[in-house]
Amino acid sequence: MFNALTKFIRHQYQTDDFIPLHAPVFAGREQDYVSETISSTFVSSVGTFVDQFEIGVATYTGSARAVAVMNGTAALHMGLLLVGVDRDSCVITQPLTFVATCNAISYCGAEPIFVDVDRDTMGLSPIALEIWLTDNAAVDGGGVCRRKRDKKAIQACLPMHTFGHPVHLDRLVDVCARWSLPLVEDAAESFGSLYKGQQTGTFGQVGTISFNGNKIITTGGGGIILANEDIGTRAKHLTTTAKQPSTYEYFHDEVGYNYRMPNLNAALGCAKLEQLDQFILAKRALAAQYEAFFIGGPLEFFSEPVNCRSNYWLNAVICEDRLMQDALLAETNGAGIATRPIWTLMSRLPMYENADCGDLGTSEWLEARVVNLPSSVILERSA
Ligand SMILES: Cc1ncc(COP(=O)(O)O)c(C=O)c1O
Repeated sequence: MFNALTKFIRHQYQTDDFIPLHAPVFAGREQDYVSETISSTFVSSVGTFVDQFEIGVATYTGSARAVAVMNGTAALHMGLLLVGVDRDSCVITQPLTFVATCNAISYCGAEPIFVDVDRDTMGLSPIALEIWLTDNAAVDGGGVCRRKRDKKAIQACLPMHTFGHPVHLDRLVDVCARWSLPLVEDAAESFGSLYKGQQTGTFGQVGTISFNGNKIITTGGGGIILANEDIGTRAKHLTTTAKQPSTYEYFHDEVGYNYRMPNLNAALGCAKLEQLDQFILAKRALAAQYEAFFIGGPLEFFSEPVNCRSNYWLNAVICEDRLMQDALLAETNGAGIATRPIWTLMSRLPMYENADCGDLGTSEWLEARVVNLPSSVILERSA
């Protein structure tokens, strides 16, 4: 049934071997920079590449500060702490995401509330959010948004830019402002994606990015926190064991975290950052090929939302139904081409199955239909 598709993908990648979903490409100065850290012995928690990487990402995104950490999950955990999420509170997020989004909420001792996604972004819907808040929440006299049924504080809203496609940020920023909700963007997958010309991860109080091996650029493992000057300074302090500056004394003024990114990983990041624009062009060119291939159906290619320039981190198609989704997955994986279903909804996982939920109709619809296709960068595509 999907013979033409497997042929098409093999033609793109020009190989008869196994085709992964997303493999890293090393085509720049990675070896030089990593070797430099080894020669200098600064492979660990301090070093010039960490500073260079932070400045590079801040400049690229237009964020006042960027604080590098050991992975995107740590960045999210810290991001939530930075906006004041604490024990026995709630955080609103989408059920259609990678588990790290919800786990970061749990690490704070808070609980997730699941609100539906939009069909055209696959990310948190501002309309569904407003409906849920109107029915279930109120802002008290002290300006705190609280769930009506138990008066628990709702301390953040955490949307995720699925597969690199930005959510409806203008409307989300507006709803969050009216309901006194700090906005933390999980931009793990969307580094380099633009919403109305502005980088994702820079719309909320905090934004976080992942540099895991499967992301558009990788540091091996890594993440970064985007924020303003004040929150950025606090992020640096908290992620580096809350140590007060001193030439040789150890004085830590609160319980901090050892979440910093090692210099070795930052070296890789500096080399990859130099290639990011080229990678985005290559990914957009591959997406355009897929889009043209799927015209006429039966699979619907998922295109970037209006007003957005997506990094197309992972290409996705929407099947007619779950039967077609199963058939596509079986046939392509059987032919040595890695394809994956979208995540099982967070609200179905044992640790989150009792969480508070709005109507999740669109998330459920997408869960039964979306499949990701091989999306590794093909470098000739950036020319
Ligand atoms: C949506 C989302 N959030 C968070 C993460 C966590 O990032 P990391 O794997 O770097 O911890 C990932 C990816 O891995 C992700 O896809």
